[in-house]
Amino acid sequence: MAGRVLSVASECVPLVKTGGLADVVGALPGALAPLGWQMRVLLPAYPGVLAKLARAREVWAANDLFGGPARVVLGEVAGFEVLALDAAHLFARLGGPYSDGSGDFRDNPERFAALSWVAAELARVGDGEGWRPDIVHAHDWQGGFAPAYLRYGEVGVPSVMTVHNIAFQGIAGAERLGALRLPAAAFSPDGVEYWGNISALKAGLVAADAITTVSPRYADELMRPEFGLGLEGVIAARAGVVQGILNGIDDALWNPEADPAIVPYSARAIAGKARNRARLLAEFGLGEVAGPLAILVSRLTHQKGIDLVPEGVAAFLDHGAGLCVLGAGEPWAEAAMRALGARYPGRVGLRIGYDEALSHRMFAGGDAVLVPSRFEPCGLTQMMGLRYGAVPVVAAVGGLADTVIGASPASLAAGAATGVVFHPVDALALAQGLRKLATLYADRAQWGAMQRRGMKADLGWGASAARYAALYEGLLRG
Ligand code: ADP
Ligand code: GLC
Repeated sequence: MAGRVLSVASECVPLVKTGGLADVVGALPGALAPLGWQMRVLLPAYPGVLAKLARAREVWAANDLFGGPARVVLGEVAGFEVLALDAAHLFARLGGPYSDGSGDFRDNPERFAALSWVAAELARVGDGEGWRPDIVHAHDWQGGFAPAYLRYGEVGVPSVMTVHNIAFQGIAGAERLGALRLPAAAFSPDGVEYWGNISALKAGLVAADAITTVSPRYADELMRPEFGLGLEGVIAARAGVVQGILNGIDDALWNPEADPAIVPYSARAIAGKARNRARLLAEFGLGEVAGPLAILVSRLTHQKGIDLVPEGVAAFLDHGAGLCVLGAGEPWAEAAMRALGARYPGRVGLRIGYDEALSHRMFAGGDAVLVPSRFEPCGLTQMMGLRYGAVPVVAAVGGLADTVIGASPASLAAGAATGVVFHPVDALALAQGLRKLATLYADRAQWGAMQRRGMKADLGWGASAARYAALYEGLLRG
């Protein structure tokens, strides 16, 4: 069996990206196509999006979508089909998808409710060319109202709600219920109501036929208060329809043997990685680094454990290691990274900003990648690190714990270790993890073997795409 899926999201590579959500939404259509599932991505037409679509044509229009005219443009990018929601009053804005730099847009609930409403409408009536999805797959709070509109509209098309990050819940004041095109009856504990407000994510979790998240471990964590961030009860109540499906990384985009941004190398000829390391040191203006050269490519936020880094890396740097940081985020975290750079000139290199090509050069040149996250639904950078022979040093949470096999006497003896996993998530454990890393690095034979194991690990989409396909099939069978 196979069919049509409408994927609803606020980000999608290669059109717009602020984090891993975009990587995943952009990879799923290509991963599902060989299994017979045609997935289209419904995305806001932020400035510049329409210009990137090939064979673009209008397939749906409305005079009034949450306060202004709107149309849906179908086009192609990177081998898959995109439905871009063109609504100037909602999406023709400078800045990022959610904010112009001076705080979130105040009408974000309405903006993404509109996106979700159009998803439900396409499921109800189809587009102008007769394409109608068999399944609606909503991602994060921005797609969360889609399952709710399907439910309250009695559309009869099953839906999947995928949680990529529960920290963003899409909260709106109760007075916006009507403006969000929700019926009065929806404002109840088994509907969209959440501590007196409206939550788009809760709406999706309650109304969807199935719930997924992006790693098995995070699926368990989400039912506990430390990780569920208030929604643990809602998710636990639906435990029977919850599953964790691990993200993959795109093998075509992330391949050290054929990456145009780097000097290519492979697991067999790993010595080639040294040239990337030397270039990276030069690019960041660092001197020779005798110990491991670690990288950090991350949003600079509390989730990512950035506050643990200065104290956690001090001894590591004092003993001859180096660190290159690429990231942007919260002002305090950017300031902490600047202070670290100033404290270790020639040892710590820093780029504040977002730079895709530089991130590739960093994975290629780095010996290790740090991911000290407090919570991590899946995480992609540890997988990119594995693929490029940059040994991951990760906190024992969520997808990090599911994708990295921590070095221990037993896992090393068994030839299984692919990285360092530390616990608890604090600066001391990070420092201990880095000490372990430096010891492993000093044993060249063992280090090389560990790098090669990571590079050969299966990190692609194959197995996970099959699980999504099985989920869709189950929903269609009812
Ligand atoms: P999250 O989505 O929580 O930020 P992930 O690890 O799932 O975390 O995905 C982050 C993605 O964004 C990866 O593709 C990573 O390489 C990329 N990334 C993060 N920060 C930067 C940056 N400053 N420059 C380039 N790429 C970045
Ligand atoms: C979120 C999570 C990250 C995950 C990504 C893609 O941004 O923070 O862990 O990898 O979504 O699913």
